[in-house]
Amino acid sequence: MSDWQQLEKRYLFSTFKRQPVTLVRGQGVRVWDDQGREYLDFVAGIASVSLGHSHPVVVSALVEQAGVLAHVSNLVYSIPQLRLAQLLVENSCLDRVFFCNSGAEAIEGAIKLARKWGKEKREGAYEVICTDNAFHGRTLATVTASGTDKYKLPFAPLPPGFVHVPYNDVEAIRKATGAKTCAVLLEPIQGEGGVNVPRDDYLRQVRVWCDEAGILLILDEIQTGIGRTGSLFAYQQCGAEPDIMALAKGLAGGVPIGAFLAKEHCAAFAPGDHGSTFGGNPLCTHVGYCVLKYIIDNDIPGQVARKGQHLERRLRSLADRHPIVTDVRGRGLLWAIELAGELAEQAVGMCLEEGLIVNNVKPTALRLMPPLVVSEEELDRAVETIDRVLAKLEEEERERDA
Ligand SMILES: Cc1ncc(COP(=O)(O)O)c(C=O)c1O
Repeated sequence: MSDWQQLEKRYLFSTFKRQPVTLVRGQGVRVWDDQGREYLDFVAGIASVSLGHSHPVVVSALVEQAGVLAHVSNLVYSIPQLRLAQLLVENSCLDRVFFCNSGAEAIEGAIKLARKWGKEKREGAYEVICTDNAFHGRTLATVTASGTDKYKLPFAPLPPGFVHVPYNDVEAIRKATGAKTCAVLLEPIQGEGGVNVPRDDYLRQVRVWCDEAGILLILDEIQTGIGRTGSLFAYQQCGAEPDIMALAKGLAGGVPIGAFLAKEHCAAFAPGDHGSTFGGNPLCTHVGYCVLKYIIDNDIPGQVARKGQHLERRLRSLADRHPIVTDVRGRGLLWAIELAGELAEQAVGMCLEEGLIVNNVKPTALRLMPPLVVSEEELDRAVETIDRVLAKLEEEERERDA
């Protein structure tokens, strides 16, 4: 065990199950550990390092802005924040933006906005319909909105006003809607829940129901947004526009940022309703602006769609050849490989040994979410590594059964 791992044990809360590797450098899709060993990074800071490590756009935006003005309060105007807000609005169906520092904060703000709207426009409605297996963050409200008991029950009593229904089930949303409901909160594809892709018409039908019932649709695009699924936002492929949308992760290429956006009709905040010290500061929003502009100008979402089709073909061929693979699912550059049994942790360790960093999103599933700039050759190398690891796991199973 390296000294760094000893220090982690000594000084940090043990909240993360970390892989036994200390990364010290990155370039594109490649990262190096403190022993100089090279890896392909198919976790990308959990779908955050959208342009890859040390991308010149991110590096120069950071240096440029840090040398001019890194932080000012939201008590004054700041140009980078306004430029990023304008770029987001001009490239989405939403009208107004609030900037914060993380995904959880973006969802927390989205919930507050929906409650304020419910108070003013729906006779005090405050309840949010959420889905099983959802993940929306770790603050008290967002963990309550999430769909995994083990993340929330240790922190009870939890805030009231959240009801859960199965994902991919419009009828369940209809039945759960009542006079107290102000919004439905959904991920277009559930990321942390295991890359769960709903039926093609799910979001469209939820949208129709929200309109009929007079409630808001909040989309959590924190993992699916900013090009990850092959369009700038996943909703653009679903034929359903959100009233409120939350972003974070890839928006500034790995620099911490979050945002929620809303249509004018539900932009219910008044001065004093919400705030943040660091949210929208010049440093992070300048990087966000440069990253988003690069992603739009270079049609990175279009490239992701094409690379995603290539990856899908390679993964489906893996599934055909390996009985241990029971399903592959995803879109763009967000994929899961479902295994027959709780083998994902072992598979992740074996991939790491072979120089590939992937994530065990569930005990039974591996998740792939490389930087959006990954090449087809790098995708092929990763799939070949997984191919070898699956063969080894199958070999071990055969030996155990013999
Ligand atoms: C869909 C979704 N929402 C919210 C979050 C929380 O984001 P953060 O960890 O930045 O608070 C995540 C993080 O994985 C996520 O995937």
